[in-house]
Amino acid sequence: MNLISEFRRFFEEQNHTWVKSAPLVPEGDSSVLFTTAGMQQFKPYYSGHPSPYGNRVISVQKCFRADDLDEVGDTTHLTFFEMLGNFSFQYPHGEESYFKEQAIRMGYEFVAERLGLSIEYVTIFEGDEHTPRDTESERLWQALAEEKRITLPIYGENRDENFWGPTGSEGPCGPTSEIYVDGVEIWNLVFNQYYQYRDGTLEHQEQQGVDTGGGYERILAVVEQVDSVFDTSVFATVMEQIENTFPEMSLEYRRVIADHLRSSLFLSADGVVPSNKEQGYILRRLIRKVLSLAGMEKAHLDDLSAIGETLVGLYEDRYPELRDGWSVYTTHLENEFQTFSKALKEGLKQARKMLKTREDNRLTGEEAFQLSATHGLSPELMRFNGIEFDEEAFEQERERHREISRAGAEQKFGGHGLALDTGELKAEDEEEVKIVTRLHSATHLLNQALRDVLEDEVKQKGSDINVKRTRFDFSFPRKLTEEEKQQVEDRVNMFIQSAHDLHVYELPLEEAKQSGAIYLEHESYPDPVKIHQFGYISKEFCGGPHVRNTSEIGTFKIKKEEAVAQGVRRIRGVVE
Ligand code: ALA
Repeated sequence: MNLISEFRRFFEEQNHTWVKSAPLVPEGDSSVLFTTAGMQQFKPYYSGHPSPYGNRVISVQKCFRADDLDEVGDTTHLTFFEMLGNFSFQYPHGEESYFKEQAIRMGYEFVAERLGLSIEYVTIFEGDEHTPRDTESERLWQALAEEKRITLPIYGENRDENFWGPTGSEGPCGPTSEIYVDGVEIWNLVFNQYYQYRDGTLEHQEQQGVDTGGGYERILAVVEQVDSVFDTSVFATVMEQIENTFPEMSLEYRRVIADHLRSSLFLSADGVVPSNKEQGYILRRLIRKVLSLAGMEKAHLDDLSAIGETLVGLYEDRYPELRDGWSVYTTHLENEFQTFSKALKEGLKQARKMLKTREDNRLTGEEAFQLSATHGLSPELMRFNGIEFDEEAFEQERERHREISRAGAEQKFGGHGLALDTGELKAEDEEEVKIVTRLHSATHLLNQALRDVLEDEVKQKGSDINVKRTRFDFSFPRKLTEEEKQQVEDRVNMFIQSAHDLHVYELPLEEAKQSGAIYLEHESYPDPVKIHQFGYISKEFCGGPHVRNTSEIGTFKIKKEEAVAQGVRRIRGVVE
């Protein structure tokens, strides 16, 4: 059985129009980096804009989820995947539109009757203080189970599990109902009955709609009765080729190579270029991880290209852009190899220098951790290059740094009634410390967002943070337009929502200045200096305190933008 053809046939029989996958980098929505779900290209049609495809559509959408990057290697996680979905817009007024009753019926009939899978249970949203329980879906499932004469457990789940959206800073969202087979969620029905505004307010929508998501590789693993997405027919040839190429490599690493090669190919084919920012940074990370797992040997570039070719061959009928973009991709691979090699060479040189003074010819965990944090000299690359290090201590060090990052603010400033005055930050007690900490992290994101949005070289001129607001001065020759202000604010909120972890580390001052981190030119800094970095988006010389993850900041708002001196602007912002 061909799952995609079956999907298409089933829903075309029910009058749905087939719409091609949108690119992986969303067009016209700067509040998200990637397309992460099928509904993204249809967002306007859920809130009143007429759909040019009619009110019943289906798609198989290319999706990329950077959040899952570190999870890849187990049986279910993928960074790139395809999502099957049927969608309905403009209910109840739109022609042929449908809502819960038909979505539930079609979902059931497709999964149970067309694919012949045995549904273990379904879930519905149990409700909370903001939104009522979805009793309608519950009733509809009960009625359907009676009609079909089946026993169907229906469980209520909370907001984390069964409420979806919006993507980006605002948009349609609503309660979900999910279908489980063999313990795996394979079909997710989202009932878009609300619109969420930037400030988090939910409003009941006039027009309602349905958004469905079924992960193709996941459903296939259930249909083909295999243990992992990497054992499905999608990956069979590639996994075998990787095993033949790297016979010594662990299964986990082979899976990472399969996933990352595939996602980097798709990203590159949609125009992403490796860089230090945004989508480009993610692509760089994917490629460097593959290169690093393959031992950073030039000879392996050809092997990796050969695996890439196999992937192109598998997908080019449905995604011709992969073939068109193939030579660009191999150039990226080559270039990344060159630049990454340079960084590593420096790392290796330092490692060897350190080793000279060691009697046991072994780096300490701390040294190894520093080399990996600053030069990309990962544990696997140290092993490949015969650099011995205390692996256990390295892991402990890594964990310790995670802890430091996590604990950050609390550890340093969490004492009872502790006041804080760093010159930049002022707080009277513990509660205030929490708020200024959020504002402080927001200020770092603001600093970066201003640089991204305003083309001029923006330089920080000063900042002052108290419990009420952050005040940030920067060099810029004129007043910001309303649009620019909105873009800056959106960008900060996008950074917040991308949930980046804080990473804190020290570098020798000169090296830190070369690292691309933001610092004040006329300020004197200690050597070595501490750097606070949020994922790949913001990196500054700083003493803290900061939130552990950008998602803790809340919603950022610009309250005022004004001049303070010739060529110096001031922004006041708050977090909510
Ligand atoms: N948009 C929903 C999801 O991604 C269907 O799960």
